[in-house]
Amino acid sequence: MNAPAHTVEAGAFRSVLGHFCTGVTVVTGMDGQQPAGFACQSFAALSLDPPLVLFCPARASRSWQAIGRGGRFCVNVLTAEQRDVSQVFGTGGTDKFAGLGWSSSPGGCPVLDDVLTWVDCGIADVFDGGDHRVVLGRVTELGPVRDEVPLLFYRSKYTATDPNAETRPAAWLEELLSWPRESF
Ligand SMILES: Cc1cc2nc3c(=O)[nH]c(=O)nc-3n(C[C@H](O)[C@H](O)[C@H](O)COP(=O)(O)O)c2cc1C
Repeated sequence: MNAPAHTVEAGAFRSVLGHFCTGVTVVTGMDGQQPAGFACQSFAALSLDPPLVLFCPARASRSWQAIGRGGRFCVNVLTAEQRDVSQVFGTGGTDKFAGLGWSSSPGGCPVLDDVLTWVDCGIADVFDGGDHRVVLGRVTELGPVRDEVPLLFYRSKYTATDPNAETRPAAWLEELLSWPRESF
């Protein structure tokens, strides 16, 4: 028996999925001598052994095409003070790196000034994901972590965590995590 065809209204899809709160990153790479990057909320840790992460760029993203040609990428995790950086890297058709400070990661990709932390990767695989791609990265280097609050994106707006909230997971919660603290 064939499964019934389900139709999902685009506005409802955006609204419901917009209730899933994420952090905000800028995924960067080098296309020859040219830096490329775009704001990206679809970033996740995937595997500890081997160390893999993933992100999902739109098929039409010019920045993704440039990063793909370079074969490597760096995930820059933004702080709550970097909403303007997210806006710049979330807008196509501009020189996103104009007037912005950055340095090179060990893998040669841009690390933006003042980010919370960064994850340097080689592209391990690329899968089809409808109007997006799913890009798997093999982690090669990890950046230092600054003592700052992360930038969050929720219901199409920027927000941030309470800096005074308890951040150490309770012992019972730690047992439920895929990679408990002891495994680091
Ligand atoms: C907070 C935020 C999160 C975003 N997340 C994604 C994402 O996960 N995947 C994606 O393809 N685009 C995402 N975008 C949109 C891209 O950043 C934007 O389409 C891109 O910068 C367009 O320029 P490009 O053609 O140079 O890639 C996001 C934008 C913002 C502001």
